[in-house]
Amino acid sequence: MEKFKIVGPNRLRGELKIEGAKNAALPILCASLLSSEDIRITNVPNLRDVRTMCDLLKKIGVKVKEDLKNGVCALNASKVSSIEAPYDLVKTMRASILVLGPLLSRHGEARVSLPGGCAIGQRPVDQHLKALEQMGAEVSLVDGYIHAKAKKLFGNRIVNDLITVTGTENIMMAACLADGTTIIENAAREPEVVDLAKFLRSMGARIKGDGTNIIQIDGVKNLIGVDHEIIFDRIEAATFMCAVAACGGEIFLDKIDLNLMGKTYDKLQECGGTFSEIEDGVLINFKKRPKAVSFETKPFPGFATDMQAQLMAVNCIADGISVVKEKIFENRFMHVQEMRRLGAKIEVDGSTAIINGRNKLNGAKVMATDLRASAGLVIASLVAEGESIIDRIYHLDRGYAQMDRKLIQLGAKVQRIS
Ligand code: EPU
Repeated sequence: MEKFKIVGPNRLRGELKIEGAKNAALPILCASLLSSEDIRITNVPNLRDVRTMCDLLKKIGVKVKEDLKNGVCALNASKVSSIEAPYDLVKTMRASILVLGPLLSRHGEARVSLPGGCAIGQRPVDQHLKALEQMGAEVSLVDGYIHAKAKKLFGNRIVNDLITVTGTENIMMAACLADGTTIIENAAREPEVVDLAKFLRSMGARIKGDGTNIIQIDGVKNLIGVDHEIIFDRIEAATFMCAVAACGGEIFLDKIDLNLMGKTYDKLQECGGTFSEIEDGVLINFKKRPKAVSFETKPFPGFATDMQAQLMAVNCIADGISVVKEKIFENRFMHVQEMRRLGAKIEVDGSTAIINGRNKLNGAKVMATDLRASAGLVIASLVAEGESIIDRIYHLDRGYAQMDRKLIQLGAKVQRIS
């Protein structure tokens, strides 16, 4: 199993191009199932989750030609030979659930292994299933698989009980080819949902209201093939911002848009430092120790749960005491125990963590438990004095392309070891 060896602390300096967003690429790849024509996606990040999604689509019968080194993925779903997302793939990537809506609406049937709980929480998919039933699907659970069938889906008014990102995406994709109008209330407003809507619209779908909490989709008969460029990864960008906040220095992140970062950007600004927009990028400069920042995670435009561990890492060495509340997932503090090994002072009470910023952290051996927790541990290790070893770095590779190479480019001492 690969590990990172990091020797800190080092100020960061340099320039990076931020990748396309993982959480936009995954639903957009699945949306290729809605058309029989050629689709070409660019700015696709070269990530393990993206490769897993390509494998899943190939299993279903989609012709996929990926050139991920150049960020390109060409797809053609004119022939689908299977309607199943098998357990072996779903267990490695929950986003596999995103084939459910498109398969059902274009092919009348889908079998998707029921995703189990994972390292960050229970993560049920009841809202996805409820909506598809309301659109006329027959849904049953057989041998650990969701089996959904519908000769035709019908538009309906769907009121989600809570805000769900992939739930909104699944319903939106299913509704594109449904008969009549679907209204999704309490919809997710994440930029990745908006990017999916933009992609679907260019294919001929009739969607309004994406980016607000009410999305309207008027069903159409078929969707055409198009080219689409994935938006930038706001979580990758914010992760590097946290790294420079913790370590100090100056970095330029190219191809990002602060307007798409919601409260996450406001909170990063509160840490101190300066953020200057220059052409398509942002120059971030931290001269002094960051200030501790309290925050709670919320759906977009609130502070992203996917940034909680990384900003917590900053808080561990920040000036002051901060209170962090995790409001999206019930078990997303797995990194706390590991950060303590680096000398962080963190108390946890239910979904609240209280962090007492220390002057310095010390290198240690730690273990990554999930994707964003790993990123938090990388940041804490970059600023810790001495050597840290982060085990199970495969979690990080699911969602960050070559983070080690990028950090080395910024002057950090990072080595990938077996
Ligand atoms: N929920 C339900 N029922 C449902 C759906 C969700 O109870 O049917 C609950 C979840 O258990 C959770 C909350 O609603 O407590 C929000 O979950 P959501 O459905 O929004 O999460 P998701 O769609 O499974 C996406 C991202 C996650 C990100 C969350 C929240 C993708 C592929 N995944 O997950 O990304 O944390 O939204 O923003 O878009 C990551 O990239 O590291 C990651 C975990």
